[in-house]
Amino acid sequence: MAETITITDNRTGEAVEIPILNGGVDSKEWSKLLPGVWFQDPSFGTTSGASSAITELDGENGILRYRGYPIEQLAQHSSYLEVAYLLIFGDLPTPEQFEAWRYEITHHTFIHENLRKHFMEGFHHDAHPMGMLVSTIAALSTFYPEAKNIEDPSVVMKQVIRLIAKMPTLAAGAYRHSAGMPFVYPDNSLDFAANFLSMMWKTAEPRYDANPVLSRALDVLFILHADHEQNCSTTAMRTVGSSHADPYSATAAATAALYGPRHGGANEAVIKMLNVIGSIDNVQSYVDAVKRGEMRLQGFGHRVYKNYDPRARIIKKTADEVFEVTGKSPLLDIALKLEEVALSDEYFLSRKLYPNVDFYSGLIYQAMGFPMDMFTVLFAIPRTAGWLAHYIELLDQDSRICRPRQLYIGKPEREYAPIETRNGSQAG
Ligand code: ACO
Repeated sequence: MAETITITDNRTGEAVEIPILNGGVDSKEWSKLLPGVWFQDPSFGTTSGASSAITELDGENGILRYRGYPIEQLAQHSSYLEVAYLLIFGDLPTPEQFEAWRYEITHHTFIHENLRKHFMEGFHHDAHPMGMLVSTIAALSTFYPEAKNIEDPSVVMKQVIRLIAKMPTLAAGAYRHSAGMPFVYPDNSLDFAANFLSMMWKTAEPRYDANPVLSRALDVLFILHADHEQNCSTTAMRTVGSSHADPYSATAAATAALYGPRHGGANEAVIKMLNVIGSIDNVQSYVDAVKRGEMRLQGFGHRVYKNYDPRARIIKKTADEVFEVTGKSPLLDIALKLEEVALSDEYFLSRKLYPNVDFYSGLIYQAMGFPMDMFTVLFAIPRTAGWLAHYIELLDQDSRICRPRQLYIGKPEREYAPIETRNGSQAG
């Protein structure tokens, strides 16, 4: 027998029985019964805003799959570029498909000189790289005006390739500008992560070859960050995309959403927290302060995961490989102790608070030499593939524009009073 739910309007006694499909009930059905009564869910914690075939996340059981493939297998065997293909097209590529994809991405890494000279160099010397990234992604739409033609799938795909390809160039350019160093052009003989590291760190040498352990570690981090279903920035992408804005404008909006410390900025907060704790000896007193509600344990807890974030487990292993090369971060011991203390404490266990992806990623980025300002930028590079997969899916679904309702809690109608009659007591 099909599973259903019955909603009864106790004012009228009318009821509606709605089937539960894929774990959800269709709001169109209940809205027939309840015209003008809205479901109040401001942070969408219990609302599904999309049907999506891209990423499956089971937070209770700590499961994450892209297009059906477990994240652990992808992190172990795949590359970011292959994962980007998987997210965009739905299946892993054949060797020929992958080669064509790799060629296309590699040959779209350059940015227009005007974007570099006039936009990027125009920023103040201490501009935050995320601010630069948001603005230059938006500016790209003016360089490719045909991008507005989202009815044509081949035009959309061209912008998808350009965006995935140019994100590392924009990201590294933002860093070089803030460091007062000359812009490094892409090197098409390098793979995706190694090319990014070359654009970040190259100085006078003719070719920069990153340590393969570090470029592989970065590629694994890119895989882990490539998509995470309906998170805040993807919701921004889908909302803006639902108005049929071009892919650059929608990606700029998603990047802006990622900028916030509750989302992409959390790994920076973890490093700051570990610095404040300062020593293993202070871990217990810090945890006690968290339990008293004085602050939150950064890198712990997640809206959806109520179990160990599977990405955090992979990142912990990647961190060991990176520290073999770079030497151990002095903050690592504090992080490990913090995790041990928190995971044996009733406060964290009863609230199902486990380390999330950000708990160890900042330590890796720091060990690789990235300044903290760049951490969120490093998140935005791979998440672009996920955002664009959702953008394409949204267009394919021919969905309606996102336009939620509100519960109005403001003043009832009142008369306009001329300014000379107002004495500040118009509150009523
Ligand atoms: N430290 C201490 N207590 C916490 C933490 C934390 N990090 N996170 C949640 N709690 C407690 C809350 O105080 C609350 O306790 P209560 O029931 O006694 O009031 C309970 O756990 C539930 O917390 P909510 O705020 O309802 O959880 P929500 O889903 O709204 O928040 C969030 C999720 C924002 C990620 C939160 O856990 C947090 O602030 N974590 C720290 C920041 C962080 O690591 N963000 C990265 C997220 S991953 C990403 O975006 C890539």
